[in-house]
Amino acid sequence: MDVMRISGGIPLRGTVRTQGAKNAALPVMAACLLLRGRRMALDNVPNLQDVDTMVDLLRSLGVGITREGSGIVFDVPETIAWEASEQLVRRMRASSLVLGPLLARCGSAVLPLPGGCSIGSRPIDLHLKGLTQMGAKIEIKNGFVHAQADRLRGRRIYLDFPSVGATENLMMAAVFARGETIIENTAREPEIGNLAEVLRDMGVQVDTEGTGCVRIRGVDDVRDCSARVIPDRIEACTYVLAGVMTGGEITVEDIIPEHIDALLAKLEEAGASFSVKGNAVAVHPVKKLRQISIRTLPFPGFPTDLQPQMVAALTLSNGVSMVEESVFQSRFLYAAELNRMGANIEIRKDTAVIRGVDGLDGASVRATDLRAGAALILAGLAAKGETRIEHMEHVFRGYESIDRKLRALGADVALEAGTETK
Ligand code: EPZ
Repeated sequence: MDVMRISGGIPLRGTVRTQGAKNAALPVMAACLLLRGRRMALDNVPNLQDVDTMVDLLRSLGVGITREGSGIVFDVPETIAWEASEQLVRRMRASSLVLGPLLARCGSAVLPLPGGCSIGSRPIDLHLKGLTQMGAKIEIKNGFVHAQADRLRGRRIYLDFPSVGATENLMMAAVFARGETIIENTAREPEIGNLAEVLRDMGVQVDTEGTGCVRIRGVDDVRDCSARVIPDRIEACTYVLAGVMTGGEITVEDIIPEHIDALLAKLEEAGASFSVKGNAVAVHPVKKLRQISIRTLPFPGFPTDLQPQMVAALTLSNGVSMVEESVFQSRFLYAAELNRMGANIEIRKDTAVIRGVDGLDGASVRATDLRAGAALILAGLAAKGETRIEHMEHVFRGYESIDRKLRALGADVALEAGTETK
């Protein structure tokens, strides 16, 4: 088991550079499956366990992959396999993003249904409904999805929920479809825009992404392409909150300010002090945050992936704050762990009621998922005394070299012997 120890109470100081976005890199990597005997070169890919899992999955389908620093080159042969291994897909839900490109390019795809996880059941019914509307024959047998389609047809598809993954899978499925596909009520996250850029670089006509409606005109083939992964807005905001919670002075570099508007707006409302200069945001110390109310929403609303970290920050605010989780079914497992550190959080259905306390105390706590782990790290950095966080493997899925980055900001952080970091 991977364990991090933090001796808290130190105001962080210095500069930290944002990694490439995990949630942009994964769909863009899956898009390489659309290439036939061609190459994709990606830059600014984060060095994460989830990226390693996607590399393993693509290699298992026959893609040649070479990595150099934050660059990855994908050499995709004329013929690839279209059955994804259960062991690999079950390791990471985002593996379901190979469904759309495999079906579009091979006419067939077999992959295990992703299981649930600690934040909810996370079905892919919207992905399958859209593919069926495009003419795919979908069968679920023994926990596997069997999808068949000689050639998908371009259709107008309405998503019942602006699902990020469904938007991405259907965009990729539409690349070789006959005619135009118009996907309505899509996700508008910046990661969708990164995928659209890559598809355009492949020679696909994609437009209006980011407006809530994506239009894609099918083509017969795609060409070599290259792209750069956008900065990870969630990682960047996690470090901004580390600066706020420790009363430090830190600068987070390589951000795209409009990607983190929601956090900056809520921090301003809570009385935090920061300044945005170009592609960096500098955090300045303030005494205490004011109470605020937040509801997580699809982009451009407040991101669900930042909900645990923001709740951790509000445990030290004045007054009573309310944070409502509207995207996932159960994303408050970490609250009980924060309460063990002296926080006062009460969960009422889909809302956390957070009564601010004067300070947190170090304790031994457990990460239940990626962002829950990030919230516990933030609390440990602000707490008095030592915090021991178990199951850091969840955190290493999405935060590149987090121990090194925090130490560079002056944090007293160490990984217990035997802990494998990325
Ligand atoms: C992506 O997951 C992200 N993962 C998640 O980040 C993020 O929390 C989520 O989008 C929302 O922003 C990646 O991009 C790899 P959804 P995804 O489809 O695509 C329900 C992190 O911490 N739903 O937008 O799985 C679903 O159950 C991770 O980095 C259906 O009901 O999210 C959930 O309640 C966690 N049926 C909601 O929609 C479907 O077919 C949002 O899911 C699809 C989704």
